Amino acid sequence: MELVKIPAHVGIIMDGNGRWAEARGKKRSFGHREGSKMVDKIVTYAFKRGVRALTLYAFSSENWARPQEEVDALMDLLATYFKKFIKKVEKNNVKLVVVGGRDRLSDSLKKIIEDGERATKDNTEHILNIALNYGGRQEIVHAVNSLIKDGEEVTVDSISSRLYTAESGEPDLIIRTGGELRISNFLLYQSAYSELYFTDVLWPDFDEVELDKALESFSQRKRRFGKVTNA
Ligand code: IPE
Ligand code: IPE
Ligand code: MG
Repeated sequence: MELVKIPAHVGIIMDGNGRWAEARGKKRSFGHREGSKMVDKIVTYAFKRGVRALTLYAFSSENWARPQEEVDALMDLLATYFKKFIKKVEKNNVKLVVVGGRDRLSDSLKKIIEDGERATKDNTEHILNIALNYGGRQEIVHAVNSLIKDGEEVTVDSISSRLYTAESGEPDLIIRTGGELRISNFLLYQSAYSELYFTDVLWPDFDEVELDKALESFSQRKRRFGKVTNA
């Protein structure tokens, strides 16, 4: 399928793992495992389609309030994902950036993340932002505080430059799987003019065909950015 416009930066709220598992009589963590298998597929396919940067919402700052067993399972899956990612570094040109506060992460996870970021810091073709212990409000507060600390003026542009995803620019398209019609504290500042795409498909079922539907929908949007003419 030839599309007229491909979004340069896509954000994805990967929701619905728990319901996917519960519908099969399994534990929620089973859904997270199945969901994590989808991540590689979608990342590879999105980059192949010409998307430059992806931001995946993996764990929100509010998700700590889930049962400890589920939080532990998610942290284990993330560690496994990052380790696999580092192994493939030689073969791809993707820069890994983990966005969100590091304070609550275990020392071993922090170390894995640092290794992954260090190994990929000079990669130039794509950026993969993984939002982990991420909250959009917290990110804005962090950005403003860092400006104040450096004695810099707080402006719309200076805040943008201090956001965790600054290098990726603002997301052109934000996809949410799992049927909920909300943003849940994802990329609040950056999404001012993002196109939104909601689908009922649960994350473990969100495959290449579903991503194509989202890209197709984006391709037909008329973005105006407050003006009268379409971009
Ligand atoms: C999304 O799936 C993954 C995370 C929030 C970590 P959920 O776990 O929220 O799945 P549902 O929404 O309960 O189905
Ligand atoms: C958003 O999903 C967070 C991630 C996908 C990581 P949630 O399932 O946590 O969001 P709510 O609670 O339905 O708003
Ligand atoms: Mg959910």
